[in-house]
Amino acid sequence: MPAGFAAPGVLFAGNSSAPDRAFYRQVFNRLPRDQYTRYVEVGVGSFAAALVAANAGIPPSCMETSDVTLYTGIVGTCVSGGDLTSLGMTLDGEPVELPDAPIVEQAAHLLYVHWLARMQAKPEVDYWTNLVTDMIEREDEHKARLVGSLQQIADRLPGVKFTPKCMWDHIAEAEDDPHAIIIAAPPTYKAGFEKFFDTGGRVEWNEPPYSVFDPDVDMQRLADHMRDKAALLMFLQEERSGIAAHETPVFAHPLGDVARAFVISNRPEEIFKLTGGPKVALGMSRSTAPTSLPIIPPDHQVTDQSRVEVVPAKGTEVDYYRDLWMHRLAAAPGSYNMLVIVDGFVAGVIGYGAETMTRPYPGATKYTTHLLMRFAFGAPHYELRLTRLATMLALRRDSAKLVFTGASEILLAASNGLVTVEYTRHPEAKGLRGLMQLESRAKHPDGYKLSYRADWSTTDIPTTLTAFITKEQAWRASRSKAKKK
Ligand SMILES: C[S@@+](CC[C@H](N)C(=O)[O-])C[C@H]1O[C@@H](n2cnc3c(N)ncnc32)[C@H](O)[C@@H]1O
Repeated sequence: MPAGFAAPGVLFAGNSSAPDRAFYRQVFNRLPRDQYTRYVEVGVGSFAAALVAANAGIPPSCMETSDVTLYTGIVGTCVSGGDLTSLGMTLDGEPVELPDAPIVEQAAHLLYVHWLARMQAKPEVDYWTNLVTDMIEREDEHKARLVGSLQQIADRLPGVKFTPKCMWDHIAEAEDDPHAIIIAAPPTYKAGFEKFFDTGGRVEWNEPPYSVFDPDVDMQRLADHMRDKAALLMFLQEERSGIAAHETPVFAHPLGDVARAFVISNRPEEIFKLTGGPKVALGMSRSTAPTSLPIIPPDHQVTDQSRVEVVPAKGTEVDYYRDLWMHRLAAAPGSYNMLVIVDGFVAGVIGYGAETMTRPYPGATKYTTHLLMRFAFGAPHYELRLTRLATMLALRRDSAKLVFTGASEILLAASNGLVTVEYTRHPEAKGLRGLMQLESRAKHPDGYKLSYRADWSTTDIPTTLTAFITKEQAWRASRSKAKKK
C-alpha cells in the first residue's frame, strides 16, 4: 500500500520493502537468462520491482507490465512511449487537454490533474486543505518533480511494454509459457486502491474491466491457480496472521509483532536452487524497529476497542514519517521521539525537546516549567484527525516518561506540562483547539507565531482514546450539520 501522499514523490515510493527487494535482486541476478526470456509483472504500480529486475540485468525490452489504476496507466503509458490520449482521461466530463510538450511533461500534467482532484475530494480537514493550497501554489515545482521521476523510470526501463489490464487476464496470457516469470505484489487491503485514488467521480478514463482483489481469498487463489502452470510465479504476500498461501514460502520477514511478508512461488525448489535455500530476514523486535510496522490505512476503523500504544523510537524513524506526512516541515527534529501505534499500525509521531528547561533563551524564561512539544503529528485519515490523538497522547505525563529516562528523568519530574510553537497562516491553530491553551500570538512574515501551553494530563490511554473518539464524532456531526445549512 502506498505509504502516504504528502509529496508527489511518494507516488513513486513503491510497495516492497528493502528485504523483499534484496531477495528479488538475488533471484533476478541468478535467473537463467536463456530459459526465462519473458518478464511479466502484473499490478506493476510504480514499477519498483521492474526497476530491481532491470538493475539485476533483466532486459527491460522483455518486460510486459500492466495495472488497472489511472495513476499507473499514466506512468506506464509514458515510460513505454505509448499514446496518452488512449487513456481517454476526463475531468468533470471534459477531456483533459494535453500540453504541447514532451510526453513526460504531458504525463506529469495528467498525474497532477488526477492528484489534485483526489485531494479536493478529501474531507475538509486542515491536512488536506493545506495540501491542496500548496499543490496549487507550487504547481510548477510539483510538476517538475513528477517529470523528474517519470524520466528516471523511462531512462531505466527502455523498451518496457505496458497495458492497462486486470492481473488475472494478464496472468492467463502468460501462465502456460515456460519462458515466462510472473511477478506480482497484489493489494494488501481489499479495495484499498480504489479508495486511495478516489476523486469522487470527477475523473474518468478508459478503465479496463477488472475484479477487485480480496487478499483474504485471492492470495490463496493465485497460489492455487499457478501451482502446476508452466510459467514461474513469484508474488509478495503480506499476512497479518502469519499464514502463507503456500506451504513453502521462498522468503519471509516479520512486519512488526504479528504480520509477515512472504514471497510465494509456484516452484519453491527452483527458487531455492537460485538462492541456496529458504531465506528469512530477521527483523528486529517492535521496540527497536517500529518502522517495520505498516502505516495505518486512511480508512482503518478506530474504535474505543482499538489498541493504542506509544513507543519510543529513533529520531531517524520518526523523521521518516514526518517527511511523509507533514506539510511544509517546520519543526526541528525531536530529541525524544515516539511513535503512536493503533491496532499495530503506525498512526502518528511525537517529538519532545527539553530546551525550554535546559537552555531557555533570554525572554523565553516564561516556559521553564514546561518541556517542549516539538511536534505531534498523525497519519492522514479519511475521517479522523489523528494529529489530535497524537497531541492528546503527547500530553500524558506517562507517555513522556517512556522517553525522558536516565539523566533526563529529572527534567520530566520538574516539569508541569508542555509548550509548543506553531507557525501558521491563521491567528489560531485549529488543530490544537480544546487541547492546549493559546499563550501568545506574534505577527510573522508568513502569518503568525503562536505559542500554546498545557499541563500534563494523567489520563490513561483507554480513557484518552474514548475522549478522542467522542470528540471526533461530535466534530463530524457538527460539520455535517454546518454543511447541510
Ligand atoms: C500493493 S501494490 C504493488 C505495486 C508494485 N507492484 C510495487 O511492488 O510497488 C498493488 C498493485 O496492484 C494493482 N491492482 C489491484 N487490483 C488489481 C487487479 N485486479 N489487476 C491488476 N492490478 C491490480 C494496484 O493498482 C497496485 O498498483
